[in-house]
Amino acid sequence: MARVAFVTGGTRGIGRAISKRLAADGYKVAAGFSGNVGAAAACAEEFGVMIVKGNVGSFEDCGRAVAEVTEQLGPVEILINNAGITRDAVFHRMSPEQWSEVIRVNMDSLFNMTRHVIEGMRARGWGRVINISSINGQKGQVGQANYSAAKAGVIGFTKALALENAKKGVTVNCIAPGYIDTEMLQAVPAEVLEGIVAQIPVGRLGRGEEIADMVAFLAGEHAAYVTGSTLTLNGGQFMAG
Ligand code: CAA
Repeated sequence: MARVAFVTGGTRGIGRAISKRLAADGYKVAAGFSGNVGAAAACAEEFGVMIVKGNVGSFEDCGRAVAEVTEQLGPVEILINNAGITRDAVFHRMSPEQWSEVIRVNMDSLFNMTRHVIEGMRARGWGRVINISSINGQKGQVGQANYSAAKAGVIGFTKALALENAKKGVTVNCIAPGYIDTEMLQAVPAEVLEGIVAQIPVGRLGRGEEIADMVAFLAGEHAAYVTGSTLTLNGGQFMAG
């Protein structure tokens, strides 16, 4: 039986590439989305995935979304906590809303989603939780005190959850992408982005498919001994120890 994977923010950007890859690999995929119905519908049509609308910032809504997926596809065995937003501003000009929106969507979402699936994974003795962090949670970034805080939080969460579930066949890992060529980069001023690309040793932005390849590895049977890890995919821009 094909395993069930739930990808939050799974219809655009990196998440879209992950949904596509896992569907191609034969998983039953549910792709979460919050507002962009057109992008979600395109994903459903092109990849044959289930799409599920929901707000990762709400514990109740996540519970409802997980229940819908469980009913249609079966219990969630692989969770990819990918949904994320930016609200960039230098900290001395950052509003409380810019701070809390990013913390809610990028970090509270880990609790809101994972809490609904972890008991089932433990009971079945198999599970994969894959969290998408960021290079900027590792090194910091001007204009991203909110995002860097949330993405560093993702790394700590990953390690604690990995420890708690290691004996239950549930691995918990995170991927820290560098600058990936997605819509999220459209909010970065062109001249700033040019400066960032100049600092990437590989000399280009990353691709969503490159992150999806790593997700596919972590989701598989062969990755059973990898847990609590932070895998960096950033073209050499930051070499974490
Ligand atoms: N070090 C310290 N301070 C710096 C700095 C640096 N390297 N560069 C700029 N600043 C400060 C300036 O001194 C200035 O502060 P003052 O107001 O005190 O003078 C301020 O930053 C810049 O102010 P500006 O008015 O020129 O610019 P702004 O406020 O309109 O925008 C910004 C600033 C929001 C940081 C903007 O440059 C920006 O969006 N940068 C990109 C941030 C970024 O990389 N985001 C990543 C998005 S992609 C993503 O998040 C995915 C992922 O995981 C990688």
